[in-house]
Amino acid sequence: MEQSLAGKIAVVTGAAQGIGRAIAVKLSAHGATVVLADLEPSTETAALIGGESLIRTLDVSNYDQWRELAEVMDTAYGRADIVVNNAGIYPIASIDEVDEALWQKTMSVNLDSHFYSAKAFLPLMRRHRWGRFINISSNSIGLVALGLSHYIASKMGVIGFVRGLANEVAADGITVNAVLPALTETPGTAGMPLDRKTGGWQMQAIKRFAQPEDIAAPVAFLAGEDAGFITGQSIVVDGGLYKIS
Ligand SMILES: NC(=O)c1ccc[n+]([C@@H]2O[C@H](COP(=O)([O-])OP(=O)(O)OC[C@H]3O[C@@H](n4cnc5c(N)ncnc54)[C@H](O)[C@@H]3O)[C@@H](O)[C@H]2O)c1
Repeated sequence: MEQSLAGKIAVVTGAAQGIGRAIAVKLSAHGATVVLADLEPSTETAALIGGESLIRTLDVSNYDQWRELAEVMDTAYGRADIVVNNAGIYPIASIDEVDEALWQKTMSVNLDSHFYSAKAFLPLMRRHRWGRFINISSNSIGLVALGLSHYIASKMGVIGFVRGLANEVAADGITVNAVLPALTETPGTAGMPLDRKTGGWQMQAIKRFAQPEDIAAPVAFLAGEDAGFITGQSIVVDGGLYKIS
């Protein structure tokens, strides 16, 4: 039987589509109440969930909006147990094309947001001495992927923050882990050249294009009681592409 997340309150960022949507649906299927946070209203995700969910617009790069979200959840539920930092951008640009604005935006959406989520939600988690941060990084940090220097830097930063934060909050009953997906079939990757996509998954041991649900399942595992002794880890979910070197 799948572990239950009944009674848990979760927030998933970037829940309007793609991997975030699959994570929200999966957490809900395990019994969690899920807050769907995105720049765009997560209406279709809410419809898929069918039961209880709360749609919130949130720009993850805005600290004030994070604090507001934590207040809203405290008022509505009196707790927040699971934070999935999934929202991210991956504009492909060579180092000659990346300007300061693109660098800063990538860092702000992909990395600063994780810090903001911790600052906003740690007090609520500490109140109940239980919490889960699951932060989406990427397997591209270990691959020869062109046009992603800014992105890889941000996703490596996620891993560093996960490691450091895990050390600091373990005594509060809070775990912090990173999930590193493969190139995954989402609206965000739809416009990518086909040869880049197939070239990616053909190098995997499991030779198929990753689906959002492939990523959502391990996230749901990390969110539950069964993963209570796993923290500070970076878990690669990529069909066996990434190699330890
Ligand atoms: N799809 C892949 O191949 C892949 C591979 C490895 C890692 N990832 C990571 O997984 C995550 C999700 O990827 P995806 O492919 O599902 O993305 P996607 O582009 O399909 O969806 C991203 C969602 O995040 C939202 N978003 C973007 N900026 C935001 C902001 N500032 N505030 C709030 N929401 C914002 C968008 O509105 C969108 O709904 C990202 O962090 C990405 O880096 C994706």
